[in-house]
Amino acid sequence: MDDFPIFKNREIVYLDNAATTQKPQVVIDKLRNFYENNNANAHRGVYKLSEDATTLLEEARKVFAGFVNAKKENIIFTKSATEGLNMIANSLEKTFIFDKEDNIVVTEIDHHSNFLPWQQLCKRTGAEFRVVKYDLKKQDIEDISRYVDDNTKIAAFTAMSNVSGLMIDVKEQISKIRKKNKDTIIIIDATQYVAHNKIDWGADFFVFSAHKIYGTTGVGIIYGKTKFLEKIEPFNYGGNMISSVDIKESTWADIPDRFEAGTIDAAGIIASAEAIKYFQKGFYGFMKIEDALKNYALKRLRAISGLRIIGHNTKGYGPVISFTLDKIHPHDLATICDRHNVCIRSGHHCAQPFMKKLGLVATSRVSISFYNTASDIDRLVDAINDAKKVLKVR
Ligand SMILES: Cc1ncc(COP(=O)(O)O)c(C=O)c1O
Repeated sequence: MDDFPIFKNREIVYLDNAATTQKPQVVIDKLRNFYENNNANAHRGVYKLSEDATTLLEEARKVFAGFVNAKKENIIFTKSATEGLNMIANSLEKTFIFDKEDNIVVTEIDHHSNFLPWQQLCKRTGAEFRVVKYDLKKQDIEDISRYVDDNTKIAAFTAMSNVSGLMIDVKEQISKIRKKNKDTIIIIDATQYVAHNKIDWGADFFVFSAHKIYGTTGVGIIYGKTKFLEKIEPFNYGGNMISSVDIKESTWADIPDRFEAGTIDAAGIIASAEAIKYFQKGFYGFMKIEDALKNYALKRLRAISGLRIIGHNTKGYGPVISFTLDKIHPHDLATICDRHNVCIRSGHHCAQPFMKKLGLVATSRVSISFYNTASDIDRLVDAINDAKKVLKVR
């Protein structure tokens, strides 16, 4: 795809888009342009250069807000989705009382980033850690709302599995959860979902990382509803987040600044806003391409003997395909694919509870973006067939 310079500079088939996406030229140009022409610490100086940096940063915030149908003050920048989830967990813990009567609901398919912050919060406070099961027969998650009761303080779950691409009907789950307990705080990990779908859920919080949607690394996004952002205690303290500081008492800046202590990655955020604009412009076309490529990949992979795909038995899947291959370890397969310049992921994908449920220690994972082509899939299949030949597996 011509918009992505890496494909001119490296002869690769890149099928690890769930790990991170490649960057279009407009994003790289914007990053470079910021450092060449606008670099100053945003929200700090009263001189023009710093004010320009602040304007660019706040314009970028508007782009992210518009993208997820939110107001600018509801968008907080962090360094990653992981930091965002940890920040929400810690801020909620500082603000609300959690005890052993309470429970927090997550799912067995969650990435460690949305598993550990809640597990550890429960360990510290004595609250019950409830994990919604993955049903091996249905290859689907059980109904999350069934795990919610009067004492559920938080339900935090992914909208799309980074292992199998399984998507959860977030809107339906939110409505069901609210019927059971209108006070449960609902937090969605949108990190995989956001590059393939539109977000329109009405969740209390959600998070994602810019680098998985064609932006830069080092930029995470939290959306939070005003009623929570106005109430919760900041997790980080320091520069930029204060209204006044005194020896005895300090007060905080308005939202969202009070959650952005210290210097944030303004250059990355500004460049990542270009990624969002680029993505929004192409969205419908991109989704069509990804869907067609996913179906093509499924067809070709299913034809390989000894290859077993996790899930993809129904329509609710994004373009992420995990599979196992009889008698070949995923790391060996990824290494042989690499000899063909085909980049695929192997391992537990930071989702060990899901792996354990599947009875596996690792899978091979192929994740597709709109810049991939049918020929990329053909090269992947050739590489897999070569691995079988090299390792003498029939
Ligand atoms: C579903 C999901 N959640 C959270 C994360 C964490 O994202 P990051 O490493 O950008 O913080 C990932 C990363 O792979 C993910 O796939």
